[in-house]
Amino acid sequence: AHILLLHGPNLNLLGQREPDVYGSDSLESIDMAARKQVESANMRFSSLQSNSEAELINAIQHAKVDNVSLIVINPAAFTHTSVALRDALLAVDIPFIEVHLSNPHRREAFRRHSYFSDVALAVVAGFGADSYRYAIDAAIKTLQH
Ligand code: DQA
Repeated sequence: AHILLLHGPNLNLLGQREPDVYGSDSLESIDMAARKQVESANMRFSSLQSNSEAELINAIQHAKVDNVSLIVINPAAFTHTSVALRDALLAVDIPFIEVHLSNPHRREAFRRHSYFSDVALAVVAGFGADSYRYAIDAAIKTLQH
């Protein structure tokens, strides 16, 4: 099995960016922890962060060719804007888990709508960096069943 972890725009700034909202962990440490979890379960791990919608769409399209079994994605601000990323996930028909560090429902009204949640396998939000840990754990369990 192969798990792909995708991070949307501005998540390269994790650790420095609004630490009261997003915590102090860097993206690098989140990716390293996720890799450890997945490889401990004898599965393949890959990850990508991009500020570009096009690059994320290309990565999702490529996931099909790469035999990715499950995608874990934090679409970041694209959560609330991107029909194109949603369509890419539906096009490849690979199950995905939507992740957020913060709980978007506790924040501005414009964060309450997600273009992903109604087609996601599940949504994990509000636990900071632990959201990723829980989502990856759930991804592994899903693939083991
Ligand atoms: C986020 C929530 C989004 O609303 C925001 O635009 C982000 C990060 C989160 O992980 O909490 O960039 O996806």
